Amino acid sequence: AKPSKIDTVVLLYSGGLDTSVMVKYIQEEYGADVVTLTLDLGQPGVDLEKTKQKALDIGAEDAYVIDAKQEFAEDFIAKSIKANGLYQGEYPLSTAIARYVVCEKVVEIADEVDADAVAHGATGKGNDQVRFEAGILSLDPDIKLLAPVREWSMTRDKELEYAEKHGIPVEASEELPYSTDENLWGKSSECGPLEDPSNEPPEEVFEFVTYPENAPEEPEYVEIEFEAGVPKGLNGEELPLHQLIEELNSLAGKHGVGIIDMMEDRVVGLKSREVYECPAAVTLIEAHQELEKFVSTKHENQFKQSVDQKWAEYAYNGLWFDPVLDHLEGFIDSMNKNVSGTVELKLYKGSVQVTGRKSEEALYDHDLASYEEGETFNQEASPGFIQ
Ligand code: ARG
Repeated sequence: AKPSKIDTVVLLYSGGLDTSVMVKYIQEEYGADVVTLTLDLGQPGVDLEKTKQKALDIGAEDAYVIDAKQEFAEDFIAKSIKANGLYQGEYPLSTAIARYVVCEKVVEIADEVDADAVAHGATGKGNDQVRFEAGILSLDPDIKLLAPVREWSMTRDKELEYAEKHGIPVEASEELPYSTDENLWGKSSECGPLEDPSNEPPEEVFEFVTYPENAPEEPEYVEIEFEAGVPKGLNGEELPLHQLIEELNSLAGKHGVGIIDMMEDRVVGLKSREVYECPAAVTLIEAHQELEKFVSTKHENQFKQSVDQKWAEYAYNGLWFDPVLDHLEGFIDSMNKNVSGTVELKLYKGSVQVTGRKSEEALYDHDLASYEEGETFNQEASPGFIQ
């Protein structure tokens, strides 16, 4: 059922086909004014001034573009790094956590323009509808939500026709059969030939990452410096997190690092085949995890695995604003207080391998562990322990 009488809708606008068609669709179907909101979350190669102009040309009342890169990195990605955030052990949650930044911003803008509804372009089969709607309602329980893709039953061809009829421009990249989402933390691709799980992803899918076969013949080393679990420097240079991630995306991406091809279990119960390109995310989580092992006790490390796994599930499932995450983060932050030091990694043709770690906080004791002369571990004590 359609919500009654809506005057102003804030539409989460990417500039792509679905949300462009939506500008007109909402005006026609609901007789409402449309204000668009587009966030800069570090999606590469996108000209957001053009996106804004496109929204206005189609007929939006107003079009907001907000640079949220720094906030995304510092308030969302940093938490995920500390939690080694990987859903089902593999997916760095790049699309998932970005949705919650959007929830926060759209509630702010809706309030500012006095809108009574928020519209998004997510489908009824995916996770993003859950994240947007559960997230937005957690922040503003009174706002109405519109998900036109769930109700308009247009096929892609019908949408293209609709666009043509209303003079909505269609980009060449939208002729490709993939559904994608991208930001600083990575790119997701679905649909088209990827829907057959037995097909290797075609090279045209990859944008962040060089196909490993075409990556340089020589390995490259990177050094990441962490402070309390958060990356602070890259190869000796101190950088704000969003810039560090941008640089690392190109460094690691060049070496083919960060391709994830997985079967994923969605919130709604569907299994789907997903292809991700997350060079910086894969590298930073690998480095962080290793440093954590270096500075924490066996029992801390074991226990944290189960906390991290829960954290990733909640973040994936749309529950970012549930207080349970704050409680888990209490543990996660406490453990990360000591996670400072540097990790060196080798990037080579699709692989990333830790090659060195240094930390003032390390619990590793060379003299205890060593098999060389000068070792201090009392081996005579072992038989009693075993018995
Ligand atoms: N499966 C991923 C997730 O739920 C990615 C979804 C991305 N959306 C897209 N249009 N490709 O987080």
